[in-house]
Amino acid sequence: MYRQAIRNSTAVTQPVKHTLTSAFGRPLLAHNGIRFQSTTDTTTSTTSQGTQTGVKMPTDAITRVSDRIKHDHRELEEYYNKIKEASRDDDKVRWQNQFVWELARHSIAEELVVYPAMEKHVPDGVRMAEKDRSEHQQVKEKLYEFQSMGPADPTFIPAIDSLWETLAEHIREEEKDDLPALERTIDAALSEAMARSFDRTKHFVPTRSHPAAPDRPPFETAAGLLAAPLDKLMDVFRKFPEGT
Ligand SMILES: [Fe+2]
Ligand SMILES: [Fe+2]
Repeated sequence: MYRQAIRNSTAVTQPVKHTLTSAFGRPLLAHNGIRFQSTTDTTTSTTSQGTQTGVKMPTDAITRVSDRIKHDHRELEEYYNKIKEASRDDDKVRWQNQFVWELARHSIAEELVVYPAMEKHVPDGVRMAEKDRSEHQQVKEKLYEFQSMGPADPTFIPAIDSLWETLAEHIREEEKDDLPALERTIDAALSEAMARSFDRTKHFVPTRSHPAAPDRPPFETAAGLLAAPLDKLMDVFRKFPEGT
C-alpha cells in the first residue's frame, strides 16, 4: 500500500525519497534571485498545450511552467470531483488526502517559484503576486479546516464546496491573467527551468497547510520548506486512493 501510494502520488512528479535526497544537497531557491537549475534536457519548448478544463496533458509533454501549473489545476478539479462522487467514506478520505496534499504542494510551489518570478519579470507583477498570495491565504484557511474533517461530519461537503469555490476563482484568474503575463515576459528556456524547479519544490511541502504558515519573504526559501514537518508527510502517504 505504501509503495503503491508513493507510485500513485508521484505520477506527475518524482519519488519523494529520491527528491528529498537530491534536494538536501542542492538548494533550489533563493529569494529575489531564484536559481533555476540548468540542464542539458533536449525537450523542445511548447506554447499553449490545450489544457482546458477536464483535459490533462501527459507530464512528459509539458515544458512550460504555465502548462505545468494548469496540469495541477486539472488534477485538483478531478480530486474535488472524486471526493464528491465517492460513495464510501473510506474513498472520500483517500481523495480528501489526495486533494489536501496536492493543493498544499501546488500552492507552496507557486509561492516559492512562480510568484517571485512574477514580481521580478512582469511589469505589474508585484501587485499580481500580492493578490495571489492573499487568495492563497483564504484557500489555506479553508483547507486547514477541511483537512481535519471526517466524511461523517455534516459540514464535510459544504466545506469542500466552499474551498473549491474560492480556489476555482483563483485558478481562473491565474490561468486567464497571471500565467499568460508571466509567459509573455520570460523566454522558453526560463519557463522550462521554472517548470522543473516547480516540480522539485513540490516534494518539500508539508502535509498540512497551516494558515499561519509564512508565505512571503524572507521565508520563501528552501530552508523554510525544510523546516516543515516532513515526518507527517508519511502519515498521509499511507492513505491514498488505490489504483490511480
Ligand atoms: Fe495559485
Ligand atoms: Fe495554481
